[in-house]
Amino acid sequence: MAAKPPIHVTVTGAAGQIGYALLFRIASGALFGPDQRVVLRLLEIEPGMQALEGVVMEIDDCAFPLVSDIVTTTDLDTAFDGTSWALLVGSIPRKAGMERGDLLTVNGGIFGPQGQAIANNAASDVRVLVVGNPCNTNCLIARSSAPEVPADRWFAMTRLDENRAKTQLAQKAGVPVASVTNLAIWGNHSATQFPDVANARIDGKPAAEVIDDDGWLQGDFLTTVQKRGAAIIEARGLSSAASAANAAIGSVAAIHNGTAGDDWTSLAVVSNGEYGVPQGLQFGFPIRANGAGGWTVVEGLTHDEFATERIRVTTEELAAERDDVAALLP
Ligand code: NAD
Ligand code: LMR
Repeated sequence: MAAKPPIHVTVTGAAGQIGYALLFRIASGALFGPDQRVVLRLLEIEPGMQALEGVVMEIDDCAFPLVSDIVTTTDLDTAFDGTSWALLVGSIPRKAGMERGDLLTVNGGIFGPQGQAIANNAASDVRVLVVGNPCNTNCLIARSSAPEVPADRWFAMTRLDENRAKTQLAQKAGVPVASVTNLAIWGNHSATQFPDVANARIDGKPAAEVIDDDGWLQGDFLTTVQKRGAAIIEARGLSSAASAANAAIGSVAAIHNGTAGDDWTSLAVVSNGEYGVPQGLQFGFPIRANGAGGWTVVEGLTHDEFATERIRVTTEELAAERDDVAALLP
């Protein structure tokens, strides 16, 4: 049988921390499987190019059989030429004491031109995952700048929050993390996000019944997940990188391979008004994917008064971020 053609994958900010944790996993087959070759298209700004050369030497030195070619560039058209997956990581991370939203003015301007370059150059099946913060609104900016690319191809990353929440629940319940399923992150990848325990399951049972400690679930659990990024910056002096790269792999793989059975994954996607969320916001929802590129927001989940209020707060924050970047939206 003829070998499958390679998939072109663009990673922006490829010489950064997340890039360093991400590229080797893509190259090893962790993203698309052991029989799928890839072309790595790596975008950096000029000051990052020397470090990127070193990263490429290391990829070369791994002799990965799945890497067909590596393109390094500072040029947007070259970076996105023929790409099927664009992972938009390159941007400035926050420092201790900042909220992710404080980065909007610093990073927002990166994503409009990248969106346009994706529309002009990418493959017709292109899909985009925005990781650079504040990722929901950066994704909104990129998507709005590329109306030629269907709105359902744009994703912002809430999978890291999902993974964090699952581990907190598993540790509290004393079960392996794989026992925790159906964990939805609603809204913004920010301190207002809402990790939804009421609809989560532990070994198939409602997670809130297994844990049976509403004080913890609505208190320490919630704030630990909401503020985990800040806790890592405090401890490491740098923002999360390996866990962020791992979540990017999980996000893309969920769309590429599909979600399993009754389970779902958390991704921020364009709102079509589901659950009363204003149309057009890039909003964290539970998603089921069919493995052929199609996905749907999981419908019919119910929210009690506590959850409804938390989802209202994160929705308002995203609406305010959209208003703040109005000048960057065509
Ligand atoms: P980093 O500073 O280590 O690397 C960023 C890289 O991007 C640098 O090499 C820089 O040269 C490059 N860059 C800057 N502007 C660019 C541009 N216009 N085009 C191309 N490249 C550019 O940062 P990092 O730790 O890798 O984090 C990257 C981003 O990811 C930050 O915004 C961070 O807050 C965000 N992040 C998001 C999540 C999430 O869950 N969504 C998790 C962790 C980090
Ligand atoms: C994270 O959640 O770790 C990242 O978004 C980095 C940050 O600024 O918190």
